[in-house]
Amino acid sequence: MKDKRVVVGVTGGIAAYKAAELVRLLVRAGVDTRVAMTAHATKFVAPLTFEVLSGNRVVCDMWDHGAVPMDHIRWGQESDLIIIAPATANIIAKMAHGVGDDFLSSLILAATAKVLVCPSMNTHMFQNPAVQDNIKLLKQRGFMSMTPSEGELACGTEGPGRLPEPADILEQARMLLSEQDLLGLRILVTAGPTIEPLDPVRYLTNRSSGKMGYALAMAARLRGADVMLVSGPTRLRPPHDVHFCEVKTAEEMRQAVLAPSSQYDVIIKAAAVSDYRPRAKAEHKIKKGEENQTIELVKNPDILAELGSMKVDFPRILVGFSAETEDLAENARRKLEKKNLDMIVANDVSREDAGFDSDTNLVKVMYRDGHIEEFPLMTKTELADQLLGRIRDLWEDRSPGR
Ligand code: PMT
Repeated sequence: MKDKRVVVGVTGGIAAYKAAELVRLLVRAGVDTRVAMTAHATKFVAPLTFEVLSGNRVVCDMWDHGAVPMDHIRWGQESDLIIIAPATANIIAKMAHGVGDDFLSSLILAATAKVLVCPSMNTHMFQNPAVQDNIKLLKQRGFMSMTPSEGELACGTEGPGRLPEPADILEQARMLLSEQDLLGLRILVTAGPTIEPLDPVRYLTNRSSGKMGYALAMAARLRGADVMLVSGPTRLRPPHDVHFCEVKTAEEMRQAVLAPSSQYDVIIKAAAVSDYRPRAKAEHKIKKGEENQTIELVKNPDILAELGSMKVDFPRILVGFSAETEDLAENARRKLEKKNLDMIVANDVSREDAGFDSDTNLVKVMYRDGHIEEFPLMTKTELADQLLGRIRDLWEDRSPGR
């Protein structure tokens, strides 16, 4: 989000304090962030908080001594995005009915930037038909409005009305600022490990953290795709606005992927699926006994190979990953052909800075026509974006004029 300029409009709700975290996240993402506050917002949080976090002057009143004339016009025209967080029922009503009676509402009226509204208020207030109609009107006019989270509110009620988490607002903002070149594509991504139980307390698994697959799911969503993430157990939070299905075993992953597979244009298998599982799961905890114990393993289904064998309906795209510690290119090429893939991403998982559980990855990408591309070491977030660029190119080649 470097080189982007965002205005955060803070209005008078208890969630105003959460806007401080949003500003911090924006600044950390490299965004030039300015803050405009309503007079009511300053009763909840002092402007100085935002001034320190953003590194910029905060405007609360256009008649303030020292305010720069025309800022209420300039700010909304010089920025790429305006985020209203929290957005009270009052500012939503003013926006819907063209009221410009203070700095922030005038700025929104004159803005040419995109506007993201993040409502936050008492549940009954949010459900009031007047507020709902105003939000509907704003959406019809091209404003983006996030759905408030549900839960216990500061006023003691329970239900919708909480400000979405600042990290989710940031992701929504990222999406609005990203090129929507995957709009209309349906993409399924698998991530993380599978776990294969031995008894009620033990299982076989691997070191996959899910970082690579989650980065792919998020990058695809930011570029406009409709994304389903099927994930083994990880410690990660599913990306905002991505359909999510958590599975444990390879067999569960197989069912979650194969059943809906025909609905997807692109399937990316970044998950580290266990190749084998214990033949049987003991009903009770296996007791300590003999000096040596043998576990009999049976082969799991190869989900990617099954998808490859079903791949008849052109132009669907199937992308696999290949985790290797030796003969990287040869082994990956074999998998590409055997599993009928369009593209395979080969990572050398013997390195500390690539493959399992690292924040970075170093890959070679191989295509059906024999072409090989080598990528330098980069973060999994950056790599995910690069890989989606290649997938978009493949898709465009197959469906020109889409
Ligand atoms: O999750 P991270 O910590 O970020 O790590 C990322 C990663 C190393 C897990 C990822 O980059 C990666 O390489 N994923 C694939 C790991 C793997 O299982 O590779 P493989 O070479 O054993 O399998 C080849 C392909 O077949 C993979 O796309 C795999 O999802 C698929 N497969 C494998 C076995 C099986 N039974 N079913 C499958 O679908």
